[in-house]
Amino acid sequence: MYIFVAGVILRAIVRGGESAGSRHMNTHLVYLDNAATSWPKPPDVAEAMTRFLAEVGANPGRAGHRLANESARIVYDTREAVAALFNAGDPLRVVFTRNATEAINLALKGLLDKGDHAVTTGVEHNSVMRPLRALQERGVELSVASCSPHGFVDPDAVAKAVKPGTRLIAVTHASNVVGSIAPVREIGTIARGKGLCLLIDAAQTAGALDIDMQRDNIDLLAFTGHKSLYGPMGTGGLVFGPRIDISRIEPLTRGGTGSRSEQETQPAFAPDKYESGTPNVVGLAGLLAGVRWVRARGVEHIRRNEMVLTQQCIDGLRAIDGVTVYGGLDAARQTATVSFCVAGVSVSELGLALDEDFGILCRVGLHCAPVAHRTMGTFPGGTVRFSMGAFNTKRDIDAALSAVARLAVGAGA
Ligand code: ALA
Repeated sequence: MYIFVAGVILRAIVRGGESAGSRHMNTHLVYLDNAATSWPKPPDVAEAMTRFLAEVGANPGRAGHRLANESARIVYDTREAVAALFNAGDPLRVVFTRNATEAINLALKGLLDKGDHAVTTGVEHNSVMRPLRALQERGVELSVASCSPHGFVDPDAVAKAVKPGTRLIAVTHASNVVGSIAPVREIGTIARGKGLCLLIDAAQTAGALDIDMQRDNIDLLAFTGHKSLYGPMGTGGLVFGPRIDISRIEPLTRGGTGSRSEQETQPAFAPDKYESGTPNVVGLAGLLAGVRWVRARGVEHIRRNEMVLTQQCIDGLRAIDGVTVYGGLDAARQTATVSFCVAGVSVSELGLALDEDFGILCRVGLHCAPVAHRTMGTFPGGTVRFSMGAFNTKRDIDAALSAVARLAVGAGA
């Protein structure tokens, strides 16, 4: 009740001070929700998708005519580009899915059986936690390694959670709430040393951070296409490293693949085993353009710019009275994702005021990651999350900071 009242007061103050200038501000949107999906996209992405629809359009691998072959070439080129970006080795072990969530479900449900033990962490998104909790109900044992209150995975806690029967370690590469980056290489060494599979949820990092599956001993990499790879929604995938025996991983779906059509059973080889039905080639054409754009620009170059904006955002928020910023507070240890609260006002009221009165677009609440918020002590209220991408500028951060400063004063923080 108090929070609701505080919010009403806050909005009255902001509206009362509205000027022509602030109305003008409403027309200029600052998009800070790149952890949900990146926007805008490079123009090449829409162009590639339009070209596919206008000039290719055919179903890949279902016929031998020129347009079907061109469509199949786009799909294969996308596998190759993704495999190269992650140093995955064989492009045929890149399996496309609708999103990272489907890829994680494929990895977890395909690999784990009753009696197996899995280790995960206290900063996971529900895309990892919910399938694991469902598997727990079917007899899979689960340990959740605790993390620091700043959202960092402790490799020693992961190692300690391993026991006889452990088959898999599943870790998010970076928290979608505070951006904290997990020590993937150290966890990969632990997994390798103990003969376990390592699944990395790269939803927040594919294209944003350097990922090398071979160097870091990543066995299963789940990625999304629509965030830092700048492709469209509806694209993503699971990459199988060389140590994974795919004969032991069940597919989520079975059906037509365009291959081995004489058989009534699913082909046993990748990627066909896991890709039944007509694929999203228009999406993959966009993803290919996105991956090429990221590789041409350079992951390191994009990362450097995002780190500058992230530190500007952290430092600027911390300088505002009444604002608490969560996480490691160090851009070098996190992705371009910053979570904060303002004393005396709910995150939903803040999100609404940022959007309606300042044109600042962000995500508030629990971000589908309740365990991460519990770890940081921000459950159940949640946080306001600013997440930057390759197209954001220092001016965007200046605008967001000045909006938060006004709202914090308005809230009497
Ligand atoms: N997982 C996405 C987010 O964090 C949707 O917003």
